[in-house]
Amino acid sequence: MATINEHFLKLPANYLFSEIRKRVRDFRTNHPEAHIISLGIGDVTQPLAPAVVAAMKRAVEEMSKQETFHGYGPWEGYNFLREAIIKRDFNPRGVELDLDEVFISDGSKCDLANLQEVFGPDNVVAVADPVFPVYVDTNVMAGRTGERRENGQYEGIIYMPCTPGNDFTPELPGTHADLVYLCYPNNPTGAVATKEALETWINHAREHRSIILFDAAYAAYIADPAIPQSIYEIEGAKEVAVEFRSFSKSAGFTGIRCAYTVVPKDLQAYHGDGSPVAVNPLWFRRQSTKFNSVSYITQRGAAAALGNEGWKQCQQTIATYMRSADRLCKAFTNLGYTVYGGTDAPYIWMETPDGQSSWDFFHWLLDKAHVVCTPGSGFGAAGEGFVRLSAFATPANVDGVLERIEELAR
Ligand SMILES: Cc1ncc(COP(=O)(O)O)c(C=O)c1O
Repeated sequence: MATINEHFLKLPANYLFSEIRKRVRDFRTNHPEAHIISLGIGDVTQPLAPAVVAAMKRAVEEMSKQETFHGYGPWEGYNFLREAIIKRDFNPRGVELDLDEVFISDGSKCDLANLQEVFGPDNVVAVADPVFPVYVDTNVMAGRTGERRENGQYEGIIYMPCTPGNDFTPELPGTHADLVYLCYPNNPTGAVATKEALETWINHAREHRSIILFDAAYAAYIADPAIPQSIYEIEGAKEVAVEFRSFSKSAGFTGIRCAYTVVPKDLQAYHGDGSPVAVNPLWFRRQSTKFNSVSYITQRGAAAALGNEGWKQCQQTIATYMRSADRLCKAFTNLGYTVYGGTDAPYIWMETPDGQSSWDFFHWLLDKAHVVCTPGSGFGAAGEGFVRLSAFATPANVDGVLERIEELAR
């Protein structure tokens, strides 16, 4: 008899974005004439940078010739890409890394989902609320939680509310946590973490021998030079933090798939008796067993996104998205809404008017303006009463949204 992993059955049937897709599909069936614009799912819309396209074309050419053909690449990624990452993303921020601390992958979602495998089943997990659902759901699947409560939270997980009252920076957990997920710039609130806030977290992790899983998928969107882009800008972070970065939003790779995870050699977890174990070799062991890296063509494209020309082109695309973020923030603020984020992150976190629930506002906006947003309650109990607007829509679609909401307000 094949038994099931019962932990999977604790999860609701639908992932948040499948639920949104279903509700939008139902709306479309009833209103086939409606031109729906999505500010919902955080997917990019602008084409790849020309330097990336050129590098990928060259890589395809190489693959077409016997002398320059590439088969399986190294599990941990090609050195040319790891070098480019260290040089572009870390050295200018004063961070030194060794090549074997950088692991190339096909996405941060998978890395965030998979990394928990190297930790024991009894680790206590702490997450911000609202939260990117992947951190929670993968720990549910791994059996690190109890049942799902009515408010959508799981027994055994520590939820750290992020509200306007604490500037969306969670307080330290009141009880001991072993694995702490932090995401900055934050999805969904658009908040960033100051150096001081990150120092507090690093000190706490060192004191408690816990590990911070730092999701920096949106680091490229930080405009304020005082805000750390990498957690390794904080002293001592290499002993207690893993960092996840992705080319999805920094170079438009959501459909190409490339990311990387930094697992420093100083990072330690512990045996039950308290003796230390280095995490880096275990992650290498996991990846080399279950993963065969990312295509040569993709890695050449990613390296080009970090080259001088590609990087400038990607910055222009990021600026396009951030102009949209600014326009959306201003327009909704002028209409009397309270908005957060949207300055160092491509997300705007907006309070629903008159205490409306997140899903009620979602349906109202869809019905009245044919605009899709993401209900904040889908990211956690503390997200109730908020919606997330994504700035990744095309500028023309942002024009459309602004026209429609201004029309509605008349
Ligand atoms: C906070 C956060 N982390 C990770 C990811 C996943 O990125 P990737 O496309 O690299 O899997 C996303 C994607 O939306 C995200 O919002």
